[in-house]
Parts: sequence; structure tokens; C-alpha cells
Amino acid sequence: MNTTSQRVLITGGAGFIGSHVVRRFVVNYPNYYIYNLDALTYAGNLENLKDIENQSNYTFIKGDITDASFIDFIFKKYNFDGVIHLAAESHVDRSITDPLAFVKTNVIGTMNLLNAAKELWKDDFTGKRFYHISTDEVYGSLGETGLFKEDTAYDPNSPYSASKASSDHFVRAYGETYGLPYVITNCSNNYGPNHFPEKLIPLFINNIIQNKPLPVYGDGKQTRDWLFVIDHALAIDLVFHKGKNHETYNIGGFNEWKNIDLVKLLCKLMDQKLNRKEGESEKLITYVKDRPGHDLRYAIDANKIKKELGWEPSVTFEDGLVNTIEWYLNNKSWLNNVTSGSYKDYYKKQYHLN
Ligand code: NAD
Ligand code: DAU
Repeated sequence: MNTTSQRVLITGGAGFIGSHVVRRFVVNYPNYYIYNLDALTYAGNLENLKDIENQSNYTFIKGDITDASFIDFIFKKYNFDGVIHLAAESHVDRSITDPLAFVKTNVIGTMNLLNAAKELWKDDFTGKRFYHISTDEVYGSLGETGLFKEDTAYDPNSPYSASKASSDHFVRAYGETYGLPYVITNCSNNYGPNHFPEKLIPLFINNIIQNKPLPVYGDGKQTRDWLFVIDHALAIDLVFHKGKNHETYNIGGFNEWKNIDLVKLLCKLMDQKLNRKEGESEKLITYVKDRPGHDLRYAIDANKIKKELGWEPSVTFEDGLVNTIEWYLNNKSWLNNVTSGSYKDYYKKQYHLN
């Protein structure tokens, strides 16, 4: 990829991972122009980008990727050279209650971006790149052993993962059919600062602070492979610049945890930070009804990106968790802002708990 000067569209840049990617690109590539396109849904928050919002190489565009004519308009207006596509509905539980919203944004929204990129670049694809950010959930669920590899068959189980799988297929199809230069990465569970508190780690940090129950789904034995968000942003930077066209790379933390073991570690670290007696936060653990279609285990084989691009996680899980906890304790107003209003209704409906 061209590293001189280019115009890069990052979608979903006001969300959790997107904000870390936008910051990394704005700061590390002062010769690029970074355009952050985000609809600012409940998950999008410009507070995440306060520190870089006035940089001269950064522009925020409020807009919805489901609006095809708006997407065509901005591609023509800004003449992007590259796209890093993160905008999505991202929460599995919400996909169970409202699957169509996931089809609209994750499938149709991705199609609109693909069409606009193909149209703008069709005369010469040289130096152009469409980078689609996807998830390991497209591979379905592992049993007790094995790892997801790039050639593992797709087998999505939730409306969220089905919509992401569908968008991955369309990206690949545009590469095969029209020659659109693309890369896809499928990443495991991220955690870190700015994570919306509907997901396990930030939800439980928030509940521990407030002495509220910690709703563990089912028996808590499901396993996830956790990666610090800054390491994901680093991988995205590498793949955008050095990944091969028409290739997929898996990204993971080499870091599997059963939910219940992770929750107990989190409780222990929170007790230390809050000067509570050891074991205090663990008392909040409450087993609740399982998530329908709950995948048992995700684990990534990230050896391809390690061997080909030299990437591997740099932050240990304990350091990453302590950093994350400290960020939430030091940013209570961020937490209060995102948990007021509609969050309260979501929480009541999802957990039947106050
Ligand atoms: P997020 O929910 O925190 O952020 C999504 C962002 O997209 C928000 O800023 C939201 O406003 C924006 N958005 C949603 N619908 C939009 C629309 N129609 N038009 C424009 N913008 C819209 O999500 P995240 O956790 O940061 O995930 C980002 C991407 O990474 C997603 O594609 C997700 O599938 C993928 N991913 C996430 C993880 C994870 O652990 N969080 C892991 C692997 C892959
Ligand atoms: O694997 C990558 C995926 O990781 C991303 O593609 C998704 O966008 C992201 O949301 C995440 O999906 P999960 O469903 O794994 O994440 P979540 O934080 O919702 O749940 C993690 C585990 O914790 C999962 O097994 C369900 C469980 N859980 C979750 C919540 C919110 C609970 O036990 N209780 C809860 O309240």
C-alpha cells in the first residue's frame, strides 16, 4: 500500500475499536487524511476522540452506511484511496432481539460501501484497498479442543455472526467478481478503554463499582480468547499497509479464558483497586438464564499474521485488565454518560434486574 499521502475512510470510528484505530492513524500518519464516518448510534461516542478531534488531518462525517446515495456522494466528494470498515451492530444479545437491524447495517451497509468503492476505483485499482474488519464468530463454536484457522469453514450461530459472515462473503465476492482489492481480518474478543458497558468486561466492571449483581450466563464455562484493543489496532495498521490483497488473517490473543474464571480474576483485581475485602466482589456473581445459541468456545490460531507480518500481542492479560479497570475508575463521567438514558431500558429488558 501507498504510504506517502492518502485519504483513508474509517467507518465506525466513534465506537470502541474504531476510536483506537482512528487515533492510531491520525497520530502515526500525519501525511494521511483520515475521515471517520459514523452514524453515532447508541454505541458511537465522539467523547472517545476528544484528544484528536482538532487535528488538521482528521475529519468527522456523521452518516449512515445504510444510506446508499449518501455513501456514493461522500466517496465522490472525498475520493478515498482506502477504506477500513468497522461500522457494525456488534452485540450478540441485541442481534437476538432485533436481527433485522444487523442485516441492514452489517450486510446492506457493507454492500453500499463495496458498491461505492468499486464505482470510484473501477478504472484503476492500483494502490487502493478495501479492508473489512470481521470477527472469529463467523466460524461458529469450537468444542473443548482445536483452533479457528483462516480456512475453517464458516458456521455462524447468532444473527450477529450470520450477518458478519454474509458481509465477509460479499467482500470476497467483490474481489473475485470485480477484482476489488480487499483484505479481511477475523478477530477474537477485544477488551480495553472505551468499551461500551453492554459487553462482559465493561458491564461487570460497572456493576462491581455499583455493587450490582454480575449476571453470568448459563454455567459460565464458555470460553473466549481475549485481546487488548490497542494490540488489535496495531494489527489493523499492519494489515492495512502490509497485508496481501485477497487474503484473510485471523487475529487473536493466544489467551483463552472460561467466563467464570475471567469474572473471578476481574473481581479480585477490582477488590484490590477499590480497597474492598478479598472475596467481596465475587459475592455479586449471579448465574442467570443462558444466552440462546450460546457458542461454547472461540480460540484463534493467529500464526499466519505472526509469521507473515510479524504481529503478536504485546500486552499481557493481567496488565491489560488492570489498565482497563483503571481507565473506567478514572473516567466515571464517560461511564455515567453512556449508562444514563436508553441504557437503563436496555438493561432492564435484557436482565430483568435493576
Ligand atoms: P461498537 O459497537 O463499539 O462500534 C460500532 C460503531 O459503528 C459505533 O460507533 C456506531 O455508531 C457505528 N455504526 C453502527 N451502525 C452504523 C451505521 N449504520 N452507519 C454508520 N455507523 C454505524 O463495535 P466494536 O466492538 O468497536 O466493533 C467494531 C468492528 O469490529 C465491528 O465490525 C465488529 O463486528 C468487529 N469486531 C469486534 C470485536 C469485539 O470484540 N468488539 C471483535 C472482532 C471484531
Ligand atoms: O469474538 C468476537 C466477538 O466478541 C465480537 O465479534 C463481538 O462484537 C463482541 O461483542 C464479542 O462477542 P461475545 O458475545 O463473545 O461478547 P460478550 O462480551 O457479549 O460476551 C462474552 C462472554 O460472556 C460470552 O460467552 C457471553 C458471556 N456473558 C456476556 C454478557 C454480556 C455473560 O455471561 N453475561 C453477560 O451479561
